[in-house]
This record gives sequence, structure tokens and C-alpha cells, in this order.
Amino acid sequence: MKKVFVKTPQHTYTVYIKNELLKDVHSYLQKNKNYILISDDFIPKMYYETLTSQINIEHAYFIKAGEQSKSIDTAYSIIQKMLNDGVTKDYTLIALGGGVVGDLAGFIASIYMRGLTYVQIPTTLLAQVDSSVGGKTAVNAPTMKNAIGTYKHPSKVLIDPETLKTLDIRQFNNGMAEIIKYGLISNKTLYDELHANNINEHIDNVIATCVAIKAQIVYLDEKDQGVRQLLNYGHTIGHAIEQASKYTMLHGEAIAIGMRIMAKNQSFEDSLIQLLKQYHLPITHNFDHKLLLDIIKTDKKAHQDLLNIILVEEVGNGFVKTIKKDDIEHYLR
Ligand SMILES: NC(=O)c1ccc[n+]([C@@H]2O[C@H](COP(=O)([O-])OP(=O)(O)OC[C@H]3O[C@@H](n4cnc5c(N)ncnc54)[C@H](O)[C@@H]3O)[C@@H](O)[C@H]2O)c1
Repeated sequence: MKKVFVKTPQHTYTVYIKNELLKDVHSYLQKNKNYILISDDFIPKMYYETLTSQINIEHAYFIKAGEQSKSIDTAYSIIQKMLNDGVTKDYTLIALGGGVVGDLAGFIASIYMRGLTYVQIPTTLLAQVDSSVGGKTAVNAPTMKNAIGTYKHPSKVLIDPETLKTLDIRQFNNGMAEIIKYGLISNKTLYDELHANNINEHIDNVIATCVAIKAQIVYLDEKDQGVRQLLNYGHTIGHAIEQASKYTMLHGEAIAIGMRIMAKNQSFEDSLIQLLKQYHLPITHNFDHKLLLDIIKTDKKAHQDLLNIILVEEVGNGFVKTIKKDDIEHYLR
């Protein structure tokens, strides 16, 4: 069992990482509590059943799988059901699923009756290494992803890497893109290890390393004013590509291209291309530069004429650089 502590000025919580943790989930959760659960309709039901065999889940809400469910409409419809079901402030909400479920459930937990306790049980690689930790919650507006959001930390995060065995390979590689990013911005040892072909044999350690990197970054900068922006390596261009693809491209696939673009002419460019190919992640795109530029200029992380971009000087060493928005074109060329 691996434990990572996440500390912010107002919250401290533990991320537990253990193979087969779900089989023993009751020992991580308070007994005599009322639980409700949000999950999606594509995640294998056995995970939900493993939970219900151990704890009393009074109400479960299953959303349609996919990014389109991360909406204010879905949030409102679940909130209505919770009200009808008599859910009060002393219930604990469990988020069982990927980043969509986690972000939506976290958002609901932050606003329902001014705040419910919630527990993250992430079941995708992306959610295990990234979205379940750090307290960012959000739903999308039709014109902007994550436009409506809050900071709300879970009371704990329970990670069972065994759940990755049922994950589609494309979704697994989607999470690999974020893992490669962690290596690039802050951990050369992790980056080097990823080149070996046996990641599945030690995925629990890899997850723990990534969670520890994120916890350290969140500790230093919970609200994204400084060092937390490092987590956006490849994301400015990546988000634009994701939006331009009308979300047919997965987040990790789009940021893989974003990272490859930001790595142009750097000493590690070739090794990064090799790594992205190893995990079947794309490295090129066909979108019009002008379209990407227009999207980047409306990015919610842009401020007036300026944009913070992330650069990596050498593997393991990312830094934030402020540029004029128009200068991002230089990287797109
Ligand atoms: N809050 C944050 O800090 C943060 C960080 C990164 C990404 N995100 C958000 O995360 C979301 C993407 O998350 P995601 O990549 O996990 O996508 P997702 O939640 O849509 O899950 C991907 C697919 O995998 C399925 N699935 C989940 N677990 C499974 C399992 N164990 N076995 C089989 N299938 C399973 C889901 O049903 C879904 O179809 C985006 O909305 C993104 O904005 C948030």
C-alpha cells in the first residue's frame, strides 16, 4: 500500500494506492455513514457491486458515459434527484469513475447544500494520476471546457490500479500522456523508466510517483497562480487541438501533440517522439494554425495580451514563461 498526503492551507487528505483496494474498500470508509454514489453507465458494474457488498449506498446516480455529461444540465438533474431522495448534508458522496465523473461529482459536492464530503475512487489512468487529486472541479459550458468550476478537495482518494485492467487501451494511453508530462516537468527518473516496456508490472508505483508530484505542486500553489501551471505543459496548444477536433480526440492525445510541439528543437525532442509513439499517442495534426491561434487567444488561462506557457529546458525541469499571446504562433510554425 502506498500513501500520498495532499496538503493545502485548509485541507489535508490521503491518497491510498493499492492493488485490489476495492475488495477492502470498507476499511477506508467510515461505518454508519450514509453514502450516495455518482458513476457512469459504461464502467463495468462489478466495481459498483464490490462497493455495495461492503457499504450502504443509499442512492446511486449513473450518468451517460462521456464528456457531454460534464454539463450544468447533468449536474442540475442529479441535484434534483438528490433533493427528491432526501439527501442531506451528512451524506458522503462517492465518485466512482474517470475524470468526467470525478469533476462532475466534485462540482456537485461543492455546491449541494453549500458542500458535501466526497471521496474519489478514480478508475481511469488519467483520473488516478491527475484529475482525482488537487481539488479542481468543473462542468463545461457549450463554448468552453471547464468554464464553470470550483475548488473542492475530496476527503480521501482511493486508487485501485486493478481497475485499469478493464480500461480500453486508448484510454490507458490517454493517461500515459499525463504521466509522460509529469516526467518532463519534474522527474527524469520517471521519464526514463517509461521507455521500458513493462509499465503494467509497476503501474502502482508509477501512479504513486505522479500523485506525489501533483501533491507537491498543489501544496506549493493550490490556486494555479504559479508553479501549478507547470501541469499545463503541452496543454495550451493541446486544448486548442482538442477543441478543434470537436473532442473526437482524447485530452491526452491532444496534449501529446501539444508537448511534441513545445519540445521542438529541444535536446529531448527525439526521445519524446519515441515515447509518444511507444504509447500510440499522436505527434502531428492537420488543423489550421489560424484556427488554433483563435482558440488559444480565448483560452481562460490567458490574461489580456499575455499568456503563460510552460517550457522544459531539460527533462525533469519545467518552468513558466510569460509571452505575448501573439507570440504563441512562433511555436505553432
Ligand atoms: N480536475 C482536474 O484536475 C482534471 C485534470 C485532468 C483532466 N480532467 C478532466 O477529466 C476528464 C477526462 O477524464 P477521463 O480521461 O478519465 O475520461 P472519462 O471519465 O470520460 O472516462 C473515459 C472512459 O472510460 C470509461 N471507464 C472509466 N473507468 C473504466 C474502467 N475501469 N474500465 C473500463 N472503462 C472505464 C468511462 O466510462 C469512459 O467511457 C475531462 O473532462 C478533463 O477535463 C480534470
